[in-house]
Amino acid sequence: MTEPDPLPELQAFLDELHQTLASDLTGDVAHYIPELATSDPHTFAISITTKNGRTFQAGDVDVPFTLQSVSKPFSYALALQDIGCAEVLQHVNVEPSGNPFNSIRLDEGRSVPDNPMINAGALVVSSLLLGKHQEKAFERLLDLLQDLTGKPPRINLNVLQSENSTAHRNRAIVYLMRNLNMLDQDPEKTLQLYLQQCALEVTCADLSMMAATLASGGVHPLSGQRIFDPAVVRAVLSVMYSCGMYNSAGDWGFRVGLPAKSGVSGGLMAVAPGQMGIAIYSAKLDAHGHSHRGVLACQRIAERLGLHLF
Ligand code: DON
Repeated sequence: MTEPDPLPELQAFLDELHQTLASDLTGDVAHYIPELATSDPHTFAISITTKNGRTFQAGDVDVPFTLQSVSKPFSYALALQDIGCAEVLQHVNVEPSGNPFNSIRLDEGRSVPDNPMINAGALVVSSLLLGKHQEKAFERLLDLLQDLTGKPPRINLNVLQSENSTAHRNRAIVYLMRNLNMLDQDPEKTLQLYLQQCALEVTCADLSMMAATLASGGVHPLSGQRIFDPAVVRAVLSVMYSCGMYNSAGDWGFRVGLPAKSGVSGGLMAVAPGQMGIAIYSAKLDAHGHSHRGVLACQRIAERLGLHLF
């Protein structure tokens, strides 16, 4: 039986939304990673994939971009899946920090980063994956990406090298955490794994499929493969809801009401559990480091489709 459209005329709505926002070039591309500063600010893509694998798209959905922080829910999911929730919770908390993604403020008394969506937490997740898989850790992430996108994974070496040469703040965070015994792996190897995951490339079409896999409780909408346990998906979506949008997570939850994750390359993914995955790509960012048009498009999609969870 054919699945009914989530909204009659959804495709027409996306086309119109894309057209309305196409001329909005508010914000700025990320400059602290020099290679990202060269991103084309006009590129704009919207993709929605239902839990059954139907896709509705508008714009430049096949243009690749690096995942950056949108990789964090997936590396966290992998750690939960491979290491177990109880163990991971001992090393990374699930508390919104109210701080920007690159905050270097650590609670020395608690010895764990606030959550796995900020850089400090994601670096501890990298250390956990390294501890578990050693030199195979990146391969595990590549295999996961392949399962999620159905394509051979690609890494953008220019972005990787560009970020590596300017990653002074992330270096400071990871070395400080090593000093405080918040991670037990080599800080440089930990940083490299994190930077590699950030430099993985996807398209907007790929990203909505990845989001749809989370929307469907961990089962890939097209292949039918169970990629994550339901308990892992529940944990990841909970943390995305409270922490995925960093210090605007409260505002986002209030207005949009969906678990989401942004990245400084301009990717944004939101998940409507049991319904669909939403992905947007547009490189110009707002003050919080989220895609400006990504936030607007997502707000309007959630409103129009009535997706707010509450
Ligand atoms: O660690 C960094 O600074 C980047 N590789 C990722 C940061 C990021 O995407 C923040 N999200 N909006």
